[in-house]
Parts: sequence; structure tokens; C-alpha cells
Amino acid sequence: MHIELDAAQARVADQLDALAQALKASQGGGFFARLISRKVELPKGLYIWGHVGRGKTMLMDSFFEAAKVEPKRRVHFHGFMQEVHAARAKIKSDDVIADIADGLAAKAKLLCLDEMQVVDIADAMILGRLFEALWARGVVIVTTSNQPPDGLYKDGLNRQLFLPFVARLKEQMDVVHLGDGKDYRLGRVAADDLYVFPLGPIADAALGRIWDGLTDGESGEALDIEVLGRKLHVPQSAHSCARFSFDALCRAPLAAPDYLALARNFDTVFVEQVPVFKASERNEAKRFILAIDTLYDAGTRLVVSAAAAPEALCTVGPHKLEFQRTASRLREMQSLSWWQKVA
Ligand SMILES: Nc1ncnc2c1ncn2[C@@H]1O[C@H](COP(=O)(O)OP(=O)(O)O)[C@@H](O)[C@H]1O
Ligand SMILES: [Mg+2]
Repeated sequence: MHIELDAAQARVADQLDALAQALKASQGGGFFARLISRKVELPKGLYIWGHVGRGKTMLMDSFFEAAKVEPKRRVHFHGFMQEVHAARAKIKSDDVIADIADGLAAKAKLLCLDEMQVVDIADAMILGRLFEALWARGVVIVTTSNQPPDGLYKDGLNRQLFLPFVARLKEQMDVVHLGDGKDYRLGRVAADDLYVFPLGPIADAALGRIWDGLTDGESGEALDIEVLGRKLHVPQSAHSCARFSFDALCRAPLAAPDYLALARNFDTVFVEQVPVFKASERNEAKRFILAIDTLYDAGTRLVVSAAAAPEALCTVGPHKLEFQRTASRLREMQSLSWWQKVA
């Protein structure tokens, strides 16, 4: 497929090109350069952040393919951290992080990490030492993220212990924002209804199609997000989309901080199987109202399958009046202008 870069992408591509050149130079000019052991300064890495669908992964992947540095490695950030934690559990030594970094550095002079996202205190507490050890071993790191460095691990437990890492990251990596430009994935779902009813196989299939369109067909993985020292379980996540059943989102005892954490960590939230509320289901209705309000305030994109149209979901019980606002927000959140808004 021929891809024509837009202006914002072209700027990032230029920076990646410059990095590719610098990497080539830092590999030394061959035998003679190594013979006189010319010390070449290690180029800075790149931290590419921006809204979903902007082409961050596409840009990083084409840079990775073209980069003339060996060995090199490209991996999903979440998978990378799982590997690190697994190694931590296995290695017995005085300096586990140093040993892990030795292993990683032997496998990659260039490490490309897709979708950096820090939601877990276990990750947050070792990232600083890990990246420091990698930088010390001459590993150049390139990452994509949908958050700026200052937005990483926002509201996480003991965040103050994480902040020195953010500062170091900004020293060791050039931070580039893929700002304007368009969401190339949006085109794939723009023609779809994003609030689907009634429930049934047709609605399920429709949400499956929308998920595939937004995640390039990735089934994704479960994720635990740290919220006030607890874990919020996200059953399915990929490409900044999170997918919940109504039961998992609103029958489980979740509260405002959970919905806020969702809004902070994902661009798009799927909620499947929203029922018509019975008068007795006032906790469920209240949580749903809270979830929608929170996602609305954060400008989050929403995909819903429900038993009925928004106005018909909650017509009995103590929350029926309040629900009128929710119904109107559910409608607004389906509009193309909502989806085009940059978070
Ligand atoms: N300039 C472009 N022209 C056409 N398609 C593009 C362009 N930029 C990105 N895409 C496509 O849009 C989709 C989203 O890009 P991706 O790199 O996955 O975004 P991000 O990582 O920022 O979420 C991908 O399928 C990608 O190939
Ligand atoms: Mg991506």
C-alpha cells in the first residue's frame, strides 16, 4: 500500500530519519573507526506521542525496518514489561535489573517499544532503573504512546517516586508530538452506528467489526490498571481501546476513580450489553450514569450495544430524570464531530 504522509507525519518522519542517520554513524565507520576506538556519542531516542490512529506505529515500524543497526528489536511495551517481570522472578542475583539489562542490551542496540503506557505500580517502580541501565549500556529506545511523558502513570500510587524517571526520559529521548493530522482509523468506522441496538447476534457482530476497524484486527489482551492501590481489571484492550461488558463495568462495584482511570488510559471505550434498567437496578443505573458522565467529560470515544435506544434505557426508578442527560450524552457521543475531536 502506498502511504502519503501528511504534514505532521512528515515532520516526525524527518526526525526518525535523522535518528537513523545518527544510529548508523554511532555504529562506527567500520574496522578503522573501531581500531582508533573513536568514541561516538549515543544519539537520543525518540518518544512519539499523539492521539490514536495518527500513524505513530506505522512511522515507528517503517523506521525500524530501515534502521541500519544490529541487533535491533521491536516489541509491544506491555509484552516487554511482562518479559522483564518474568526475568525478575527467575534471576537470583544482587543486581537483578543490571542482569536483565545485560540480557536486553545483548539482544538490541535499538529497542522500539510500541504503545508505552504505565498503569501498574510494579512497572512504575522499576522503569526508572531499567531504562537507566539500558541507556548506560548504549541502547537507544524509541517509543510510541498516546500520552506525553508527563501524563504517564497519572494518578498512580506513589507517583512522586515515578517523576524522576519522567525527567530522565525527557533528557534521554526527544519528545515529539504527532499533533494535527487525521485519525486514519476513523475512516473505517465513520459509516457505522456506534450505538447499536437491540441486543443480539447482529449487534455483537457490529461491535466486533468496529473493534477490528479500530484495532487493526487485534484481539488484544486483558490489563490491570492501578487505581488507588487497587486493580481495575480491563477484560480486553488494544490500540488504546478498552472493551467491557455492561456487567463488568456497572454491576461490579466500580466507582468514580475507576471510570476516571479508564478515561485517562484509553481513547475509546466499548460497553456491550447495556440492559433496559429495572426500577430495582438503581446501583447499576447510577454507575452507568457516572461512567458516561466521566467519559463524556474526558472526551472519550464510546461504542455501545444496548437493549434499546438511549431514551428508552431508564424510564423507571430513582434515576430516570437524571438519565435524560445521560441519554442526550449517549447521542452526542455517537456523532462524527465527537469522534473527530482531538482529546
Ligand atoms: N498517511 C496515511 N495514509 C494512509 N493510511 C495511513 C496513514 N497513516 C496511517 N495510516 C494507517 O492508519 C492506521 C492507523 O495508524 P497507526 O500507525 O496504527 O496509528 P497509531 O499507532 O497512531 O494509533 C494504520 O492502519 C495505518 O497504516
Ligand atoms: Mg499504535
